Amino acid sequence: MKVRLKIWRQKNGTSPGRFATYATPELNANMSFLEMLDVVNEDLANRGEEPIAFDHDCREGICGTCSLVINGRPHGPRKGVATCQTYMRSFRDGDEIVVEPFRARAFPIIKDLVSDRKAFDRIQQAGGFISVRTGSAPDANAIPVPKEIADLAMDAAQCIGCGACVAACKNASAMLFVAAKVSHLNLLPQGQPEKDRRVKAMVAQMDAEGFGSCTVTGSCEAVCPKSISLDFISKMNRDYAAALLKGDPKKPTAGGTS
Ligand code: SF4
Ligand code: FES
Repeated sequence: MKVRLKIWRQKNGTSPGRFATYATPELNANMSFLEMLDVVNEDLANRGEEPIAFDHDCREGICGTCSLVINGRPHGPRKGVATCQTYMRSFRDGDEIVVEPFRARAFPIIKDLVSDRKAFDRIQQAGGFISVRTGSAPDANAIPVPKEIADLAMDAAQCIGCGACVAACKNASAMLFVAAKVSHLNLLPQGQPEKDRRVKAMVAQMDAEGFGSCTVTGSCEAVCPKSISLDFISKMNRDYAAALLKGDPKKPTAGGTS
């Protein structure tokens, strides 16, 4: 098969971008979308032209690095898969395919199809961790966790931090990502001591990064390659409200807590 690509090309974050059109060489329908871009890049390089910059790493739906908007949909036409798990057999011979980067004010474009998603790292650094000692793996397994809680925490932990939820949202909200990361730890016994501090710090960092508000359109859940549920946003809102009502922890004084 062959397809026609309309690809966003942008030299850097300060230059204006534009769509460039490429006719692909002959492709195998069982190639992944990223392998197709590899073939196109090889062709461009052989002709002395600048290859298209795009993000990728594991190429098996684990790392969250790949990040293309394909025909207007983050991660392409298939539900529940990342860009790297999208195959050319999802398209027809002769199709025109429009490829853009994930766009959001908090995800500035670095080059072509690569956007800077370090805002997610900073949100994670604000509270997406457990700083108490949890012991070695056997010790951790010895802490009883009800099955339904363990399952829910695992569902939240599936978030690969790709940012498709932000790219799909008309408000560029990061609520689904933050809700997954907060819920994963807030559900588990090991996450309880820092539960309130975590949710407040991660929400504050999300706001500081310039992500928009959630208006519950559900576009995030629809494009999420891990099908993270909107229910986690409700859960995070409950955790956040409870943390605010409790207020800040009392500061220790010379004579003990005041
Ligand atoms: S919630 Fe889904 S779409 Fe958003 S960052 Fe996590 S895996 Fe990606
Ligand atoms: S390259 Fe790792 S999830 Fe796609």
